[in-house]
Amino acid sequence: MNRRTMWAGAAVVTVALAVVGAVRLGRAGAAAGQGPKMVVYKQETCGCCNEWIEHVRAAGFRVAAKNREDLVDIKQRYGITGTLASCHTAVVEGYAVEGHVPADVIQRLLRERPEVAGIAVPGMPQGSPGMEGPVHERYNVIAFDGRGGMQVYESR
Ligand code: CU
Ligand code: CU
Repeated sequence: MNRRTMWAGAAVVTVALAVVGAVRLGRAGAAAGQGPKMVVYKQETCGCCNEWIEHVRAAGFRVAAKNREDLVDIKQRYGITGTLASCHTAVVEGYAVEGHVPADVIQRLLRERPEVAGIAVPGMPQGSPGMEGPVHERYNVIAFDGRGGMQVYESR
């Protein structure tokens, strides 16, 4: 190894350490409530909605919860059809997040920014965030375009 490659190597290591540091800081900042703002539309009596809100808050999302008599309007606005529907509808950075979607999948959505209307965990699978218990059903997180197009974004 000559001097030049040695310095180049040192520079790469320095940059890598800086990136790791920045990611760590980002996580710490998120945990302190500096994460993306999210509005959650739900019904007042929904217990699992509150459990899910705690889950996304713990991941750093800054959540404003709004109780509604019914959620038909908001679901229609984002093209959340009957097969996609769940108990609550969240909106974060222009995306709809329907139901008990894990926080890390929302973070992936905001990183990748696909051209979709949003993502959904249809129904209320046992074992999903906010639906914790002894049973863990397998479930899919569905990306939807709001016009009937859907595909599996992630499986849990
Ligand atoms: Cu629920
Ligand atoms: Cu809910």
